Amino acid sequence: MTAGDRTGGGVPGDHGPPGRLRLRMESTLSSATSSSINGGGPEPSRAVVFDIRDMAVYYGQNRALADTSLKVYRNLVTAVIGPSGCGKSTFIRSLNRMNDAIVGFRLEGQVLYHGHDLYGSDANRVEVRRRIGMVFQKPNPFPKSIYDNVAWAPRNLGMKHRLDERVERALRQAALWEDVKDRLRDSALGLSGGQQQRLCIARAIAIEPDVLLLDEPASALDPVATASIEELMHDLKHRFTIVIVTHNMQQAARVADRTAFFSLETIGPDRFGTLIEYGDTETIFRGASDSRTRDYVAGRFG
Ligand SMILES: Nc1ncnc2c1ncn2[C@@H]1O[C@H](COP(=O)(O)OP(=O)(O)OP(=O)(O)O)[C@@H](O)[C@H]1O
Ligand SMILES: [Mg+2]
Repeated sequence: MTAGDRTGGGVPGDHGPPGRLRLRMESTLSSATSSSINGGGPEPSRAVVFDIRDMAVYYGQNRALADTSLKVYRNLVTAVIGPSGCGKSTFIRSLNRMNDAIVGFRLEGQVLYHGHDLYGSDANRVEVRRRIGMVFQKPNPFPKSIYDNVAWAPRNLGMKHRLDERVERALRQAALWEDVKDRLRDSALGLSGGQQQRLCIARAIAIEPDVLLLDEPASALDPVATASIEELMHDLKHRFTIVIVTHNMQQAARVADRTAFFSLETIGPDRFGTLIEYGDTETIFRGASDSRTRDYVAGRFG
């Protein structure tokens, strides 16, 4: 496998799957019997959404992430855990080219999305963002009405047909409809933190992406709002493939089907994050093969 530098560029043109149907047909099925990368039991016999191969990420001269290879499977929740600074955000942001805007960002290795090189020269960045939505740690609704927040991306992409229905569907899927149906024209900034985060999820899913990336979506929320976001994950994974970064071990254990543990390694003056172990969540939490994973999930480090 080649591990060339991948910076800038645009995302799938002719090679990019134009519709959801074609995406499904092009997906590769993994073998149910082959063992997973870095241990953790057999791979599920599901379509592979992301096939990440030898990923390394640099910010200028500094290597933030190294030697990361894993597969993300369709309609599962995949959790990314590990100590602060180990590259969790770097990793998840690399899955929809969110890091491209950072000066000095450079990615080595390959990120295959349904078999297409996300950083290939024929990749179309707008199309990538259209298919791979993202929600951040801090709820960031636009200073617009609740309706306009959810309608924003569909309008930008020309999906104006039956917009009211689309907005309602997204709000229902994000379990927010009952809270806001009588005040859709009110400012989104008047919602509670938990409601704002569900609104951001509604905004992300309004264009029916294929993948939802969530970077610590509940870390700024109280336990009740956190529980409602976690419940949402269970519902949404039937429609989307979800990758979630979390610092909360219980949360990972509750919501994730598979878990990837990253750690911060030191070689000489270099400190960088790397994938240590990846497998089904039960195995990572109860029978991890690497002592670093066992220590972390037991709260002995990080
Ligand atoms: N925009 C950036 N420019 C330069 N370095 C960065 C940038 N973003 C992250 N880094 C560096 O990359 C490394 C990994 O950071 P990252 O934010 O991915 O870690 P994290 O695991 O998400 O941490 P946390 O749990 O605190 O959110 C850190 O050393 C960080 O300083
Ligand atoms: Mg982070």
